[in-house]
Amino acid sequence: MKFETLAVHAGRRPEAVTGSVAPPLYLSTTFERDAHMVPLGGHTYIRESHPMQSLLEDALFPLEGGAGALVFGSGMAAGVSLLQTLPAGAHVVLPDDAYYGWRVAAQEFLPRWGLTASFCAMDDLAAVRRAVTPATKLVFVETPSNPLLRVSDIAAIAEIARAAGARTAVDNTSATPALQRPLDLGADVAIHSVTKYFGGHSDVHGGALIFKRRDETFEKAMHVRHILGAVLAPFNAWLVLRGLRSLAVRVAAHSAHAFAVARAMEKHPAVSRVNYPGLPSHPGHAVAARQMSAFGGMMSFHVKAGREAAIAAVSKASLFVRATSLGAVESLIEHRASSEGATSPTPQDLIRLSVGLEHPDDLIADLNQALA
Ligand SMILES: Cc1ncc(COP(=O)(O)O)c(C=O)c1O
Repeated sequence: MKFETLAVHAGRRPEAVTGSVAPPLYLSTTFERDAHMVPLGGHTYIRESHPMQSLLEDALFPLEGGAGALVFGSGMAAGVSLLQTLPAGAHVVLPDDAYYGWRVAAQEFLPRWGLTASFCAMDDLAAVRRAVTPATKLVFVETPSNPLLRVSDIAAIAEIARAAGARTAVDNTSATPALQRPLDLGADVAIHSVTKYFGGHSDVHGGALIFKRRDETFEKAMHVRHILGAVLAPFNAWLVLRGLRSLAVRVAAHSAHAFAVARAMEKHPAVSRVNYPGLPSHPGHAVAARQMSAFGGMMSFHVKAGREAAIAAVSKASLFVRATSLGAVESLIEHRASSEGATSPTPQDLIRLSVGLEHPDDLIADLNQALA
C-alpha cells in the first residue's frame, strides 16, 4: 500500500458501539477487571498502557515499515528512553550538530547514567568509523540535521554500526516517513518528536520510537516508559492520530514551498548561503536525493552582514511567526543561536525557517521585505 493510503488508514478500527468514524477519546486512568482479575479491555493502569496509546502506536509503526511503536510524552522523552535501555559503560556516537536537546542530554545526563558519548561529523563516514569504539552500543543519526540541514548517509552509517555490534537510531523528525524511511535503509529505530509534522498544528507535544523488530530493546524501552512514566496523554495521542492522517499531503506541500523559498533565498543579495538539501548546491544533495523522496519543509540561511542583520531581519518578518519549533501549518522564523542560548554552537548569522502551508510567493515577499 502507498504511504498516502497507509497514513489515512493505518491502525483504523471499526468502532462497534457507536459506529463512530473518528476514534473515540478514552480519558480513563484505570481499567476494570472481571471477577477472575482479567483486565476487561487488556489495559490496567494508564502508566502501563491506555487505549489511545495503543491506537496511535498501531497507526505509527506501519508508516515507518517497523514492527512496533512506543509513544512518549515528548520527543526528548522518546530518545532519552532509548538511551536508558543501554547498559552502564556503553558508548554512544552522536552528530556534532545534533538537535541541541540531544547535545545537552548527552553532555549533562549520560555521564550520570554511566554512559559515554562522543560527537562526530556524521556526513563524513571516515569520522563515523573513527568515532565508533568496541564499547559503542548506539549510533545516533539525525538527517537532515537541525539547524544546519546537513545530510548523513543512513545506509552507510547503519553498516558501520552493525559491523561494530552497535545499533543505529535515526531522528526522523524533520523528514518524517513520508519522505525518508530509515528502517528500510538499515537503521534499527526511528525517533520522532511528533510535536512537529505528525501533529502538524503547533498544538500537541509528544514523541515516538518505531522499531524494526519487537526485540529486547523494544521491551526495555517499554519498561523504561512504564516505570519512569514519560507517557503520552490520551488527548495528545488523539491529536497526533488526527494529524498523521493528513501527513503525506502536508509534507508534500511543505517540501514544495520550502524548495521555492530556498531557491529565492539562494538568489538574494543579502544571503551568503542557503542550507536546504534539495538545492543541487548543497553538499549532501546527492545522498539526500538517494534516501529522500523530497527534501522537507526545514531550511536555514546565513545573512551576509552577520548576527545583528540576521536578528534585524527576523524582527522585521510579519507573515513568518517568530517562534521556535517546526512542522506546523504556519511558517516560523528564528534567530536560532538566540533560541539555543549561550552554549549554542550555531552560527550567529543563521536564520532558521520552518516553511508552512502559506503560498510560497507570500513567504518570499515577507523575507524580501525583512532582508531589505
Ligand atoms: C529534530 C528534533 N528532535 C527532537 C526534538 C525534541 O522533541 P520534543 O520537543 O517533542 O521533546 C526536537 C524538538 O525541537 C527536534 O527538532
